[in-house]
Amino acid sequence: MTDDLLARHQAVLPKWMPLYYAEPIEIVSGSGCRVTDANGRSYLDFFGGVLTTMIGYDVPEVREAVERQLRTGVVHTSTLYLIRQQVELAEKIARLSGIEDARVFFTNSGTEANEAALLVATNLRRSNQILAVRNSYHGRTYAAMGATGHRSWSASSLNPLQVAWLHSGDRLRGLLAKLDEADHIEAAVEDLREVLATQTAGDVACLIAEPIQGVGGFVSAPDGLFAAIKKVLDEYGILLISDEVQTGWGRTGEHFWGYQAHGVTPDLLTFAKGIGNGFALAGVVGRAEVMNAVQAISFSTFGGNPISTAAGNAVLDYVLDHNLQENAQRIGAILLEGLRAVAADHPAVAEVRGRG
Ligand SMILES: Cc1ncc(COP(=O)(O)O)c(C=O)c1O
Repeated sequence: MTDDLLARHQAVLPKWMPLYYAEPIEIVSGSGCRVTDANGRSYLDFFGGVLTTMIGYDVPEVREAVERQLRTGVVHTSTLYLIRQQVELAEKIARLSGIEDARVFFTNSGTEANEAALLVATNLRRSNQILAVRNSYHGRTYAAMGATGHRSWSASSLNPLQVAWLHSGDRLRGLLAKLDEADHIEAAVEDLREVLATQTAGDVACLIAEPIQGVGGFVSAPDGLFAAIKKVLDEYGILLISDEVQTGWGRTGEHFWGYQAHGVTPDLLTFAKGIGNGFALAGVVGRAEVMNAVQAISFSTFGGNPISTAAGNAVLDYVLDHNLQENAQRIGAILLEGLRAVAADHPAVAEVRGRG
């Protein structure tokens, strides 16, 4: 069964879209944290479809919310009409974002969310220069890929932006590794000043950064680094975009958003993955004066459609009602402790890291 599907997959899908495992599996059903493949084998799913099935499979509250919307007969209207589910979700996200007088724009993917954030920042600042971070991942379109500091995910050098690169915050590899936290932050700030002075024309639009680099291997800079960096950005009026595609919704355990570990509020925050729990839902949040800087019409046909936002509302309510942030903190601590104990006997393991 699966072999046949593999051959058909290879015959019609591009080879740069990789499959996991020597013998790729087809997941045919799921419930809670478990999935079952086409051969009837059951798995405990630690991956969640690239960190996306955040609250598990076949959650009744989400299924019922989506079925309720389906029963209205309206799957799609476009954003040219009022969408109650979208407004309700935007109100919740605006309230939770920590950003004052927030506006929310919904998209279908994290890539598009980052693209929208970069559009807003470059429009507001009337500049196509940005700062990005080595070892980052922000998506697969030209601007998002251009801000991605990762060779394996950079399929093209074409870039609408002028990008200057900051150090990654990695404490295992690279020039700033091995420094203690305070020295690391000082060196990163010094590097930022040097990059601004030597690689830009000064009027930079924004810095885009992940609070914890996901695709780059769950690399987290010392807490507080964003705050120290933002002090310098503020001297120049440069906006901070926090890419919370992996770190949002309480998943780091300690905080609801990854940026909160740094003691700073970003100008723009992008989200995706977990909020739809599998339904295509993402977006960007920012202060009204920043978000409203776009000077032409810009909309997304599908972004925040009635089905995805019905799911998003149910997912977000579930996360809050079940205090899943606290759960992430508790389970994360158990996993870290256990993995560290295992790693102690395996010198090939350089580091065990992660949050939540
Ligand atoms: C931090 C981060 N930003 C953006 C993206 C792109 O999101 P999407 O694949 O939904 O376009 C990803 C995807 O893995 C991500 O991890």
